[in-house]
Amino acid sequence: MDCIQQKPHAILVCFPLQGHLNPAVQLAIKLASKGFTITFINTQSIHHQITSNTQKDNDEDIFSDARKSGLDIHYTTVSDGLPLEFDRSLNHDQFMAAMFHVFSAHIDEAVQRLMESGPPVSCLIADSFLVQLGRVAKKHGLLYASFWTQPATVFTIYYHLDLLRLNGHFDCIDRREDAIDYIPGVQSIEPKDLTSYLQEEETNTICQQITFKAIHDAKKADFVLSNNVHELELQAMTDLRKKVPFYAIGPLLEFTKCRVAVATSLWSKSDCTQWLDTKPTGSVLYISFGSYAHVTKNELQEIADGVKLSQVTFVWVLRPDIVSSNDSDPLPKGFREETGDRGMIIPWCFQNQVLSHPAIGGFFTQCGWSSILESIWYAVPLMCFPLIADQPTNRKLVVDWKIGINLCDKSQITKLEVSEKINILMKSGNHELKNIIKELRRTMEHALSREGSSERNMDQFINDFHQAI
Ligand code: UDX
Repeated sequence: MDCIQQKPHAILVCFPLQGHLNPAVQLAIKLASKGFTITFINTQSIHHQITSNTQKDNDEDIFSDARKSGLDIHYTTVSDGLPLEFDRSLNHDQFMAAMFHVFSAHIDEAVQRLMESGPPVSCLIADSFLVQLGRVAKKHGLLYASFWTQPATVFTIYYHLDLLRLNGHFDCIDRREDAIDYIPGVQSIEPKDLTSYLQEEETNTICQQITFKAIHDAKKADFVLSNNVHELELQAMTDLRKKVPFYAIGPLLEFTKCRVAVATSLWSKSDCTQWLDTKPTGSVLYISFGSYAHVTKNELQEIADGVKLSQVTFVWVLRPDIVSSNDSDPLPKGFREETGDRGMIIPWCFQNQVLSHPAIGGFFTQCGWSSILESIWYAVPLMCFPLIADQPTNRKLVVDWKIGINLCDKSQITKLEVSEKINILMKSGNHELKNIIKELRRTMEHALSREGSSERNMDQFINDFHQAI
């Protein structure tokens, strides 16, 4: 009698922000292409935001095309505990509180439902920042994989939070301001290179609570899957691998390995490729501060004046909520007219398409991890302006790797600094940065090749997974 082995079925839950959704979708595709059945859980709010940007038939979801390509990916949605019309960007702390206190109960019910109705489930994979889901997995007798979307270095620093406390660099009255040189796997770093949550004066904020609980949960996970590349963060990775079942399987990027189209954009995209086609190679600066962070009106003013002063040609993604105020146009008066055809200002774009365009010569970025990985993939040097969360630590990596330059600290931004640094990025420093970033691209390509580290880590994960079920 033939023995038909059941495909492993994993439920994958993503954190409802663009920078987390994109790699989670790629993870789903990767696992499905390796023989997993995946049920992907999105929040109703994110689902609603995506579908209002796409003209999909009612019975289609973001993975319809993936299924047509033979991938076994199912899709469902749950509430994040807030009404659909609630403005999650303006009321950030309430949104985070719902993610902390309410969301896991909704996932718990969804897992119960899926276990009663679908093919047998063996694993719950959840974004590391979705706290309490390790507990949900254990309650249902499932393996728990924590999905890490930031650098391994950031994970390592959080892992050693107790050392930061013990040495007076966090959570004490007179914080030390000297270098931090005692974290295993992390070379000496300055306090300004810590994540924003470790630099805050306040303690016990909702973001700190989520982050610290995320690491606490991840330490106990059966597996930690990460959007990292082993060779890029060798020291951190070597240290982590001794402590946690950490599998670096990145970069999880669209169009790298499995060419399946999945619409994930949370805002409606403007196409600027025709405009870019008219510009010389490497002449255009791409400006975007990602999906999540805000800047003040004053910072935006200095940035805009600096961009104008630099005389550079630019594409600027100005997210509708970039300045947390109800201003209909946060740009300085006259900026659009004065820069004219030198600039294209759009609310959102298909970032990979823009970065891959030959006209793009530099990326002025908030240093989101996906943005950095994408920029390396398309060999576009960076100018770093970290705003929140892991971004200050990510900046440190970019500058250490010599694939980008630092603009300045947020509080010190001036138009002169912006203009000068843009000129270094686009002109005097561009050639050298570009040569090094091309090397890192090759490192990534190699990691994804058959014998490469990410591919081997993926195989190792699958092997260990089968041993564990
Ligand atoms: C945060 C964190 O800082 C980041 O490190 C973490 O991994 C995710 O959350 P965010 O701004 O969302 O920040 O991160 P970023 O890494 O920049 O991801 C944004 C994603 O949106 C990228 O995949 C990018 O391609 C996409 N994007 C951005 C677009 O598709 N269009 C745009 O116009 C801008």
